Amino acid sequence: MCTQAAAGAFVLLLTLLHIISSVKGHVDFPFFSPGIIYQYRYVLDVQAKHRSQLSVPESRLRAEATVKTHLLWRNDSHPGEQLVHVQMLDFKIHQLQDVKDETTSIHLSAEAVLGKESATNLMLPFLFHWNSGKVEGLYDTVEGSGRTMDLKRGLVSLFQLQLLSGNVTEDDVSGKCQVSYKVSKDLVTKTKDLLSCIGSGVEFTSTKKIFGVQWQPTSTSTYSLKDGLIQSVVSEEIQIFSLNHSIYIETIITSRQQVELVSSAAGPAETSGQSIQEVLAKLSEKYQLTNINGQPLKRTCHQCPLLETFLMPGDQPVQTDVASASSTRLFHTLVQMLRQAEKRDVLHLLTKASKTSLPFLIDAAVAAQSSASLAALTEFLDFTDKKQEYLVEKFLYAAVFVPRPSKDLLHILEKLIGLVIDPSLMESGIVVIGAVVHNMCQMKLCDLKEVEHAKATLVEGLKKSVEVSQKKIYLLSMKNAKLPETIPLLLEHAENGPGVLSDTALSALQSFPAEYMTMKVKKALRRIFHQTQRKYERTSRLAAAEILLVKDPLHMDVINILLALDKMDAELAKLLCSKIQIIQHSQDQTRKVIQDILKDSWLNNYSVFSRTGNSMVFSGLLAVSEDMLATYGLEMLFTETGNFRQSISDITLVSHEHRLQASQVSFEVQGLEFLMESPSEGDKNQEIRAGISVSLLDVQLRPIVFFHGYTDLLSKLFGSTGKPTTIVKGNILLIDHLQRISLQSGLLATIEVLGGLGLDISADLGINLWDQESEISIKTRAGLSIDFKAEVGTDFFQADVKTEADAELIFYFDTLVKVFEDPVQICLQLGQDQLLYRELFSLSESFPQRNVTHKAHKGRRFTVPGREFPLHHANSEMCKLMKALQPDPEL
Ligand SMILES: *[C@@H]1O[C@H](CO)[C@@H](O)[C@H](O)[C@H]1NC(C)=O
Ligand SMILES: *[C@@H]1O[C@H](CO)[C@@H](O)[C@H](O)[C@H]1NC(C)=O
Ligand SMILES: *[C@@H]1O[C@H](CO)[C@@H](O)[C@H](O)[C@H]1NC(C)=O
Ligand SMILES: *[C@@H]1O[C@H](CO)[C@@H](O)[C@H](O)[C@H]1NC(C)=O
Ligand SMILES: *[C@@H]1O[C@H](CO)[C@@H](O)[C@H](O)[C@H]1NC(C)=O
Repeated sequence: MCTQAAAGAFVLLLTLLHIISSVKGHVDFPFFSPGIIYQYRYVLDVQAKHRSQLSVPESRLRAEATVKTHLLWRNDSHPGEQLVHVQMLDFKIHQLQDVKDETTSIHLSAEAVLGKESATNLMLPFLFHWNSGKVEGLYDTVEGSGRTMDLKRGLVSLFQLQLLSGNVTEDDVSGKCQVSYKVSKDLVTKTKDLLSCIGSGVEFTSTKKIFGVQWQPTSTSTYSLKDGLIQSVVSEEIQIFSLNHSIYIETIITSRQQVELVSSAAGPAETSGQSIQEVLAKLSEKYQLTNINGQPLKRTCHQCPLLETFLMPGDQPVQTDVASASSTRLFHTLVQMLRQAEKRDVLHLLTKASKTSLPFLIDAAVAAQSSASLAALTEFLDFTDKKQEYLVEKFLYAAVFVPRPSKDLLHILEKLIGLVIDPSLMESGIVVIGAVVHNMCQMKLCDLKEVEHAKATLVEGLKKSVEVSQKKIYLLSMKNAKLPETIPLLLEHAENGPGVLSDTALSALQSFPAEYMTMKVKKALRRIFHQTQRKYERTSRLAAAEILLVKDPLHMDVINILLALDKMDAELAKLLCSKIQIIQHSQDQTRKVIQDILKDSWLNNYSVFSRTGNSMVFSGLLAVSEDMLATYGLEMLFTETGNFRQSISDITLVSHEHRLQASQVSFEVQGLEFLMESPSEGDKNQEIRAGISVSLLDVQLRPIVFFHGYTDLLSKLFGSTGKPTTIVKGNILLIDHLQRISLQSGLLATIEVLGGLGLDISADLGINLWDQESEISIKTRAGLSIDFKAEVGTDFFQADVKTEADAELIFYFDTLVKVFEDPVQICLQLGQDQLLYRELFSLSESFPQRNVTHKAHKGRRFTVPGREFPLHHANSEMCKLMKALQPDPEL
């Protein structure tokens, strides 16, 4: 009984299973029936174009073929598993031709376009292993492999589908990708998430998002079926590449494939066999398994200039002006050449170069970041040689801005700080290591042995140094490194260090995002601002208050700062008030807290905000584009006795969630009253010093001291050459992006973007003891070039879509202070000279076999007239007054 019941249950189970499998069988399918040849028409259409307001022609490749398929074998126990034979025939290419301004389309045979050998290979049959719609293997004859195979991969990928809605991971010509299916009756839609594909994509990009490349790809295929047989497939892929935050520079590549069943006729019978291997062995052609993923091979550069051209005598790139567009353009070329070059050639170039072109070559070799170029630099530079110090300095300034540094660079820097003799070079080296560590952490290389070692070098260095000036350098390096684990160390110095270190540590804390400003950090900042434990420098209190006001401000902190204003000196209170008002009217999220608090009329009291004093904060708009904002800010702090103490000017780029401090120049003077007034006994002890500290692109550079002490000042005043001091000069790479993609059609796309900046920042400090005025002029000259290139192609076809954009501009920031007037007179001027802009959109399309090349280009250039950026009204009035009092140089 028992066994009978068990047997009955077993039969029931089997029946159930059968029903389930037949339901599954319904969604499964034998696509191809044996003994029939299915003939499809295949159309391929690939376009590449600019999105530009100027109508630049597009490049287009159109081809069509007849595709014959038949079932070679199927699995006896599972007919949905098949081996399919495919052959492309009559491959034809449409080429558009301009004949006397008339565009006509001509049809060219495969042989005419591909050459005899490739054309023959393209027509060779191939096989694919199809299992319930999934392409599980691609088989090709030995002769058929090569670039033409990519076109076959593109075709076969169209045959991959499933009859169940849902998401899966699939391998096809695009790589291994997330695919989502929607099935309704005889219609199947396949959407491929190209951003998820493994096997093709971004090789490298800049660590700063603002200088990245936006990639927006989409892919949709629509299948129409009838009785389980594919009637047609339309697949469309759109790839959009644009420079982040530039609406002008954008390239669009579309790739459309279409397959349509034309006819079916009687064909060869299926081959019997127990396994695929057995079937393959029976065939006359020798097939081998090949990868279905497209192979985005490195293309060797055809038109790239060779390094040798730079080596020709008399052909040296003579660099007169680094801040010109022509120089940044040359810089791109050289970087690309150096990336291809061997160490021996780079070294040869360095040793042969003239003294004037060496700095330029060093910039390029560092930006190239290839192992060969870095190895050549290590061999060329002698860190212990006094005569080479200017080159070592050049190397350091180049290294600090490398957009994607390698561990080799870090290694060289560590070696350098162990060897250099000049203390300022050593200091620069330490500051640079911090910046490189930060970039490598951004590249997710923070745990690399070399990076760990560098981090330890910084922490140990800080702990071991005795002198304040040494400690300051390590703190600056930590400011660049932005490592969360160093926050406790920074807090310790902010709270307990002497004034200079407290200031530096606080400025390092300022560079961290708000999420790191924990309760513990805020408590320490409050102790500094409210001076509950000890007295602090005004600049330290200011920095502490600023962090509390800007990084996730708490109601309590804002209120307490407002309440404390009355108890502090007038200048500091004035500055803080002005800062709070700026935040209140800004676009920043933090303004809400301050707006809330100022609803309280007791706090938002006229007497709280109407303060006397010269100190002030100002901010304004420099430029606005569709998705980026450039702002400038200015902050001036005066001493309690009304003398100029420090000015901070900055230019910040804000875009979506990203913020980048393009530049910050902080100019500090101490003890000026001693200089200008007849020194009383007490003042004699006061140090006179003036210095400038510059941050560029979120990277702090080693501060420069103009003079330190009265004797130093005098010797510099009398020994002065009258020439401005160079702060930064050189070429750097801002944008560095390379991406290789296998398009659905089997063509390959390469996106290469370089953005170089040539910078020359100089500062001029003039102190006129007789007129008791001082003038600081900071001049920034910049040349910017962008090369945005998209290549689409295969063996027989190549389209290059290129955008070149150049800009040249000059910024100036002048501060004139008349100290001995009462009240102090001060005039600030921030402005820009005329800006030159040029852009060129070009396109070239070639069929190498046919010696046919089409070229087209459109460009434009314009100048934006110079202008002065408005600061506050009182300043303009003061400037008018002071300029009127200036002695006329003509007299
Ligand atoms: C499938 O993928 C699509 C797009 O990638 C996504 O929107 C959807 O949520 C996914 N569905 C499931 C069930 O994971
Ligand atoms: C810009 O580019 C990078 C990659 O190069 C990307 O990760 C980033 O999200 C892009 N978009 C914006 C708005 O910055
Ligand atoms: C045939 O299909 C069955 C069931 O799916 C499977 O177990 C078997 O391995 C397949 N045979 C071959 C030769 O692929
Ligand atoms: C503003 O503040 C002053 C001094 O602190 C006080 O005398 C005055 O009453 C306040 N006004 C308001 C409207 O709260
Ligand atoms: C293309 O140019 C090369 C060299 O200039 C020549 O040898 C070749 O015959 C040309 N081919 C055609 C199809 O014109």
